[in-house]
Amino acid sequence: MAEADVPTGGGAGRGWFITLEGGEGAGKTTQLCSLANALGETGCEVVTTREPGGSPGAERVRSVLIDPEAALTPLCEAMLHAGARHDHLTNTIRPALARGACVLCDRFTDSTRAYQGFGLGLAESTVDTLEELVVAETMPDLTLILDVPVDVGLERARGRGIHDRYEAMAFAFHEHLRAGYRAIAARAPARCAVVDANRPAEVVQTDVRRIVRERLGIAL
Ligand code: TMP
Repeated sequence: MAEADVPTGGGAGRGWFITLEGGEGAGKTTQLCSLANALGETGCEVVTTREPGGSPGAERVRSVLIDPEAALTPLCEAMLHAGARHDHLTNTIRPALARGACVLCDRFTDSTRAYQGFGLGLAESTVDTLEELVVAETMPDLTLILDVPVDVGLERARGRGIHDRYEAMAFAFHEHLRAGYRAIAARAPARCAVVDANRPAEVVQTDVRRIVRERLGIAL
């Protein structure tokens, strides 16, 4: 993996960049909203965003990417995600970080590594190349990986009536995804924290805030 596993943001000329990651039904969106509220109470500007999407151009690309009818090759998917990410970084994330805002993003480059890489078998060197080209120095300062057993996550996602291209895939795909996220965390321990998300949302949030406090020194 090409990344230097060193947090660089916050106070040092730009705002903090925090990403939330996980498989289907991990509870990212709920945790992101709670964390955004907590950070907002400290008085800092908070920008919440998501991938694929997060800028007008990238939202257009999202509609193709989440269409269950669109049969795309893994490389095509990865390149579309990377293209959308470039637009998102350029138009939303980098300007927000530059003015000192704290950016909370629901999924980012680790999703490409987990889904297209570990899940769909795209070569790691290809994911590295796209990451170097598109993300470059704008790696997150902290990545919270919400971990739930596959059956629990899929049950939650189906309960919400979510039917994207990945939900219908075999159980084994989701197991690869989960193992992939753990591998990502093991390789970048200073940036990533795995959170047991198979607990009530308030308990998970307590853990999330503790990690943000400890890793980034933000008084939550
Ligand atoms: P969401 O359900 O969290 O909104 O994400 C949409 C889907 O896009 C989800 O199934 C994961 C997938 N995805 C990838 O496969 N690769 C990526 O790089 C990103 C950002 C998302």
